[in-house]
Amino acid sequence: MQKITCSAPGKIYLFGEHAVVYGESAICCAVDLRTQVRASLSDTIRISSVLGDTGLDHDRYPYVSSVIEKMSEITDIKGVDLCIDSNIPVGSGLGSSAAVTIATIQALNLLFGCGMGAEDIATLGHSIERKIQGAASPTDTYVSTMGGVVMVPLKKKLKIIDCGIVIGNTGKFSSTRQLVSNVALLKKNYPEIIDPILSTIGMISLTGEELVTKKEYRSIGVLMNINQGLLDAIGVSSPELADLIYAARSAGAYSAKITGAGGGGCMVALAHPSEMQLVASAITKAGGEAIITKVTEQGVRVEN
Ligand code: PMV
Repeated sequence: MQKITCSAPGKIYLFGEHAVVYGESAICCAVDLRTQVRASLSDTIRISSVLGDTGLDHDRYPYVSSVIEKMSEITDIKGVDLCIDSNIPVGSGLGSSAAVTIATIQALNLLFGCGMGAEDIATLGHSIERKIQGAASPTDTYVSTMGGVVMVPLKKKLKIIDCGIVIGNTGKFSSTRQLVSNVALLKKNYPEIIDPILSTIGMISLTGEELVTKKEYRSIGVLMNINQGLLDAIGVSSPELADLIYAARSAGAYSAKITGAGGGGCMVALAHPSEMQLVASAITKAGGEAIITKVTEQGVRVEN
């Protein structure tokens, strides 16, 4: 094989971010926003995207460079040309780093015939994210590899949901590490208050499981909105997120909440397909970048 193109999806949380850090359940969905990596055999290493053209470069391409180095330990990579293209906004809680990591691993896996299976890909992806970020939950890399709707930490696949997903990006930087440490401090100072909030978030995910299976979008929406209230209570909302969330709800969404770490980054709304455009327009009017998408069953895949 001389060349191959692979892609992997980003993700949203229906329920459970932050609580999942403390072992509670969460439900995550792969969404139809993808990062594509075109890999071809070459004499040298070259990585290119809108960020520029370079060789191994841990500043500009930390994930892709680490994948090349790690995969060089299991196969002889003399040279490879990697071209990256993505429609997942970067650094906004949608799993862009996991998607580029997983798509690159699978492209090299197939190009060099390493024989890795999906579990191996997810595990290597997680170890690379952990090395670069210091700490990372396995959720993003797992969901990007497997696709679909996944209950974590059990890694249980649920039925796909087929309502409209509208994401609103505040465009404000969100530091997962900072927000996770803010919540840890709050939990340390007020355990009798924060612990029950986190376990209630976990209970929302457990209750949500059956509703997801039955595709009861209105009830899923009620639980997502309760989850949002609890995320606000633990201090991870922001005025920008709140503006987009209330705009989406007022425009007829079933629900709207933060997705991911919060503080900035993105919110997600569930809507009836006929309402998606209205919800997206309301998000834009409230100052966000709206992205209409859907949940996808397709994790990492080969592109034609
Ligand atoms: O913002 P993201 O996509 O990195 O999601 C963070 C989710 C947290 O639960 C806050 C942290 C984690 O590692 O699970």
